[in-house]
Amino acid sequence: MTTSLNTQFGIKGHLGFIEDASGLVVAKIDNDQGSASLCLQGAHLMTWQPRNQKTPVVWLSKDAKLAAGKSIRGGAPVCWPWFGAHPVESAFPGHGYARTVPWRVVESGIEPCGATRLSLRLVASDKTREQWPHECNVDLTVIVGETLRMELTTENTGDNDFVIGEALHTYFQIGDIGTVSVSGLEGCEYWDKVGGSSLKRQQGAIGFSGETDRVYINTAAECVIHDEMLKRRIHVAKSGSLSTVVWTPWVEKANKMGDLGQPDGWREMLCVESANALDNQVKVAAGTRHTLIVEYRAVSL
Ligand code: BG6
Repeated sequence: MTTSLNTQFGIKGHLGFIEDASGLVVAKIDNDQGSASLCLQGAHLMTWQPRNQKTPVVWLSKDAKLAAGKSIRGGAPVCWPWFGAHPVESAFPGHGYARTVPWRVVESGIEPCGATRLSLRLVASDKTREQWPHECNVDLTVIVGETLRMELTTENTGDNDFVIGEALHTYFQIGDIGTVSVSGLEGCEYWDKVGGSSLKRQQGAIGFSGETDRVYINTAAECVIHDEMLKRRIHVAKSGSLSTVVWTPWVEKANKMGDLGQPDGWREMLCVESANALDNQVKVAAGTRHTLIVEYRAVSL
């Protein structure tokens, strides 16, 4: 499997494919500007570190496991075609099925700036059609360089309109959750998912002193994670996305989840997810396409 992938899509000095002990295939990207890895199952970007940073920018749990049909803890899970619980079918997986099914490589290349490009398409099956009976193409392109760009495109190839929820659910590496803040969402409304669900308005920058699980709505703003310990800022820019989800589980939930790098791994991650969720789900009309794009960069202080 990896031999033909390497022959068709491998690029010397940029991109190769390996098979993990689990049997899943991982794309390894390494160029002059940075490195990254991506599991073909789920089109799940697992790691990214630009050369200008001593510490990875995307966080992967040390307990992360690769296993067929299971989501990987950390990286940038692709949540699609719904975000959170399915609105009607409680047996359907949270955050959709895209992150746990095979995707196939469709293209690779080098950008004019020297970054490496890799594109994948979700492989539909009878099982996915049971949960999503719509004709469509779902593609993820990642461009790995000094910045990380990801483009998630949904193309409705059928005759009927459909509505999707989605997110690039990125876990960022931080020094310590108690010393970071997030700016860019001041004044925005959010659904606070801790202890029920209520609509609130953000005052000032976001700081963290307990479980935080919020869906900020109607915001296209760039967010910035300010990290005093790692002495850097992470910029999260986006387009085609009107929700931003900010999530940290804190100690109790992290202990329950058990795969966040016990005992303190959860302190070193923060999710800032570029999404279209709740009020911002997207109608993709028949014959049209919709693209959610993120671009991340880290700036040392
Ligand atoms: C966040 C949700 O996006 O993802 C949280 O807002 C959820 O409620 C978290 O706990 C992790 O989800 P999962 O399915 O990867 O465990």
